[in-house]
Parts: sequence; C-alpha cells; structure tokens
Amino acid sequence: MTETADSRSRVERYDPSAIEPRWQGEWAAQRLYETDLDDVRRRVTARTKAVILCSPHNPAGTIIPRAPLRRFLDALGDDSPLVVLDEAYCDFVDDPEYPDGVELLAQYPRLLVLRTFSKALGMAGLRFGLALAHPAVARELAKGKLPYNVNLVTLAAAGAVLRHADALAERAREIVETRQRFMARVRGLRGLTLFPSAANFVLIRCEGAPARDVFRRLLDEDGILVRDVSSSPDLADCLRISIGTPDDMDAAAAALERILG
Ligand SMILES: Cc1ncc(COP(=O)(O)O)c(C=O)c1O
Repeated sequence: MTETADSRSRVERYDPSAIEPRWQGEWAAQRLYETDLDDVRRRVTARTKAVILCSPHNPAGTIIPRAPLRRFLDALGDDSPLVVLDEAYCDFVDDPEYPDGVELLAQYPRLLVLRTFSKALGMAGLRFGLALAHPAVARELAKGKLPYNVNLVTLAAAGAVLRHADALAERAREIVETRQRFMARVRGLRGLTLFPSAANFVLIRCEGAPARDVFRRLLDEDGILVRDVSSSPDLADCLRISIGTPDDMDAAAAALERILG
C-alpha cells in the first residue's frame, strides 16, 4: 500500500480561541488556513510516495512562503517522496515571500511543479496544463502518459494564448488590483471574517448569518453567484467569492454590506 500526504484536501485548523488576543484579526485569520508543513512532514513515512501541496491554496487562498517550503524540502532530504507543488493560481500572487517553484527545481530534483492554462490564461474548458520536473522524474511520468494525450485543437489554442501572454498577464494584474480593492472594502464588515488571499478568489466566513442563507440571498436578490464551500470539513460558514470585474466586485461588496453588515 502506498500513501499520499495531500494538503489540497486539508486546510490546517487552529482553534481561534487559542490565539492570543494581540493576534486576533487578520493575522489570526491568516494562521487559520495556512498549510502546516510541520504537520505534513510528520505524516510522511517510508511508504509515502508523494506529498501534494497547493500554493496558493484552493479554496483558502493562502500561500506557502519560500522559507518554510525550503525548510520542508530540505528536511525531506535525498530520500524524499515526490513533492507535487500545484501552482494553478501563481499568476495572482502579490506576496514577495512567494517562491517560484520552477526556480526550486534545480535544487530539489524530487519536486514536481504543476501549472495550468485554466486560470490566468483563461482556457479552463480546454484542459491544458503542464508538469515541470527533473528529467529523471519526467522520464518516469512519460512512461504512464497516454500518447497524444493533448489534442491538436487544444495545442493550437495554447499556442495562441501564449502569443497573448503579455495581455493576459495585464489582466491577471487587474484581477489582483480588484481583489485588493474588494478586500479593503469588506475587511471592516462586522458580520464576516475575511481571510487573506493570493488567488483570484477570496474566502470569507459569514458570522452575521449562515453561509447558505447568504449564498441564497446573493443569488436571489442580487444575481451574484458565489461558491458555498460551507459543507467542507473545516470551512463551516465559509463562502468562496471569485474576483470579477471592478463593477461586479463593487456590487458583491455592497450586497455583503447589506446582508451581513
Ligand atoms: C488548485 C487547483 N489545481 C488545478 C486545478 C485545475 O486545473 P486544470 O483545469 O488544468 O485541470 C484547479 C481548478 O480548479 C485548482 O483549483
């Protein structure tokens, strides 16, 4: 039997009441859903074949900063299981502590970096992404890959997207700015906790009303569709709100103010 230590399905939960008062507020919110690499490290055994990390994390929006990631990879050493780093949302990060997984590849041959064209490059329906790895790992992956697993239409679309990479990077920057504005606006609302985000969505916890009621009212009264993640373990009363246009987000902020404020 093999094991996989997967941080994508688990966000680490801290008991908020255990957090010192001076750390309440946003810092506490940040700690609440950060990936606890010490905990992941403790779960790695001789039978572990892969560790899966997600940064920025979906749906928490948190990143794994450079220093703890390096410490984690160093601690795993030469016998490390494969460490799969899912960077699907990397284009929306504005945190200087965010490491570029591709740069780490030269030093950590057991690292496998995943990127997708589904997010900042806007090609979600085409299902195109890539894995970047040490040649030895890539050779092993190639053994299990179906021949011609990407069709020609998708390849042509991916080529076209890359020719517009600058414009798409600009759009990602606009999304980051819109996220910052939206977060600044809802940050002060009494009826919710806002979690820090480095992705093209933000996670909130509804305190003024149950998340499913807020979800329903946003849809019925304002025509705003968000993702109700409140049934997931550790995400009680949480909603995930994707960042849209500035007008969309002004409307979402106003609706949240009305419903939760
Ligand atoms: C963390 C993460 N990785 C990967 C994906 C999917 O990427 P793809 O569309 O290339 O399968 C998603 C999509 O929601 C995601 O949230």
